[in-house]
Amino acid sequence: MKNAESEALRMDDTVRQLAGEALQARERSYSPYSRFAVGAALLAEDGRIFTGCNIENAAFSPTICAERTAIFNAVSEGVRSFRAIAIAGGPAGEPAAEYCPPCGVCRQVMREFCDDDFPILLVVASGSPRIITLGSLLPDSFGPDLVKGRK
Ligand code: THU
Repeated sequence: MKNAESEALRMDDTVRQLAGEALQARERSYSPYSRFAVGAALLAEDGRIFTGCNIENAAFSPTICAERTAIFNAVSEGVRSFRAIAIAGGPAGEPAAEYCPPCGVCRQVMREFCDDDFPILLVVASGSPRIITLGSLLPDSFGPDLVKGRK
């Protein structure tokens, strides 16, 4: 098999694995108020996968999204370089049927650690993921490079 072909196959495996992890993480969502369950799976540069789900709170504002749970999970383990993130969301108790793009706050948090070409996989329970880039969701972004002395 040619190198490019085996690379593409491996990418397919990775996409499938990441999508599966996002769907599984979604099962752990704590969302008794919105009843909207979200899961995320973040692929680190070193091949590790960090997952997260949305965790709501009776006071509402302490609620955290699945994507930020996954990113903060990774960063708190000392990992800051990422290859892709998969996200699955939708009404709790039902299979994820529609693509669920990340909210604005999560886009900005991704931007802290990822560049414009960072792939975001929108996952549904049956069907192919839709793959978009962070740059397309957050154009002309304010990133760490703009703040002198921070990277
Ligand atoms: N939510 C996420 O987990 N990720 C997003 O990007 C959008 C929204 C969560 C927050 C809240 O628990 C529920 O979905 C409804 O907004």
